[in-house]
Amino acid sequence: MFDLPDDEILPLSKEHVFWTWSAQANVNPIAVKRAQGVYFWDVNDKRYLDFNSMTMCVNVGHGNEKIIKAMQAQAAELPYAAPGMTTKIRALASRAVAGITPNQALSKILFTLGGADANENAIKLARGYTKRHKILTRYRSYHGASAGAMAATGDPRRVAWEPNLMSGVAHFLDPYRYRSTFHRLNPNISEEDFAQDYLNHLEEIILYEGAETIAAILIESVTGTNGVIIPPNGYMQGVRKLCDQYGIVMICDEVMSGFGRTGKWFAVEHWGVVPDMMTMAKGLTSAYAPLGAVAMKPEIASAFDERVFEGGLTYTSHPISLAAAVANIEVMREEKIVEHAAQMGGVLHKLLTDLGEAHPSIGEVRNLGLFGIIELVKNRETKEPLTAWNSSSAEMAALRKYCLDRGLFIYTHWHTALIIPPLIIDENQLRDGFAILDEALKITDSVCEG
Ligand SMILES: Cc1ncc(COP(=O)(O)O)c(C=O)c1O
Repeated sequence: MFDLPDDEILPLSKEHVFWTWSAQANVNPIAVKRAQGVYFWDVNDKRYLDFNSMTMCVNVGHGNEKIIKAMQAQAAELPYAAPGMTTKIRALASRAVAGITPNQALSKILFTLGGADANENAIKLARGYTKRHKILTRYRSYHGASAGAMAATGDPRRVAWEPNLMSGVAHFLDPYRYRSTFHRLNPNISEEDFAQDYLNHLEEIILYEGAETIAAILIESVTGTNGVIIPPNGYMQGVRKLCDQYGIVMICDEVMSGFGRTGKWFAVEHWGVVPDMMTMAKGLTSAYAPLGAVAMKPEIASAFDERVFEGGLTYTSHPISLAAAVANIEVMREEKIVEHAAQMGGVLHKLLTDLGEAHPSIGEVRNLGLFGIIELVKNRETKEPLTAWNSSSAEMAALRKYCLDRGLFIYTHWHTALIIPPLIIDENQLRDGFAILDEALKITDSVCEG
């Protein structure tokens, strides 16, 4: 449709694009040309196996005809309507999203443009509903790059922007068993006691901050980029109980963990918990169009029956994005993608475990469904990470380069490698990726002391 020779895409981009999360001089992007299934191709026709679903978001895989056609049809019918109007697709999309929430209990939907503004709006709603102002989040969390979502974020991306962020956020620790501060001398503690220790820690923070000041606890149901930290059994149930006890709104950020990623529609379902609000984005449209959402219990929405909700977005409920979402949910249902992800999660678990046994530089592997991680260490005994906190290392860069050179697209973060492929991946494709990883890990093994 638009003409530009393949070999001019990269130079022209370098001339005019300002890159996010990057020092501008260091950027060397892949110039992507097309994508299908679990693969994408660059302008030189080099094929990559996508082990990160691009940005952990192309859940149903690339090039899905049904979603593309739904967006095309919506663009032809009505590409945009004002936020105060409604449309057929807005009615259908709201019902579709409400229908997949746990127990269908979060029946009111506010559509946003992505995950950050979903979290920002969830915070506003919780503050309005409770008439309290504080928000508790965890240190190993990422909730988005806008000022409020960044304040809620616990990880170092927040530190870079302090002190000019939204006020009123306090952080607590994640139940991260492999590196648990509380259990260095007691690593064999039962799962139940482990969960309880972290709930006690959270309750202590609630009391110190003043329960009567806390509007919401906002947590990723499974922590994503900061470690694929899977909560121990009892933890989410315990957070729910604390929220009920102290009148705090429980918000689960399912931006990365939702839409089948863990083998359930939403990760929180693994623990039978119904939060008061859930935020979502990424897999909501499988990234075919930008869209986020806040799903909330009706009583939260009702708090604004007579009071104005002071918030809005020009592109809320954008029809083309909503068409992508409705088609995406239908595709997930028709092709039983959530069930497939759960099944492939078993295969991923075995592959990760075998890899962990074969490579001394692997300290631990974890996964829930197709949400997986490899933690690389210098020494298995001391668990010293291969890369220091919030930095990168020559070995991690070499590991990633080895994979990319051989056509495996993978995301590395500090001392970890994440395995977050499209949910349609099959066993052979998973094995292809692991064969490359198996070779690549010789690089990290070579600097390992253990
Ligand atoms: C858990 C989580 N929450 C929120 C966000 C922010 O979403 P967005 O980039 O769409 O604003 C992300 C993005 O990676 C995320 O992983």
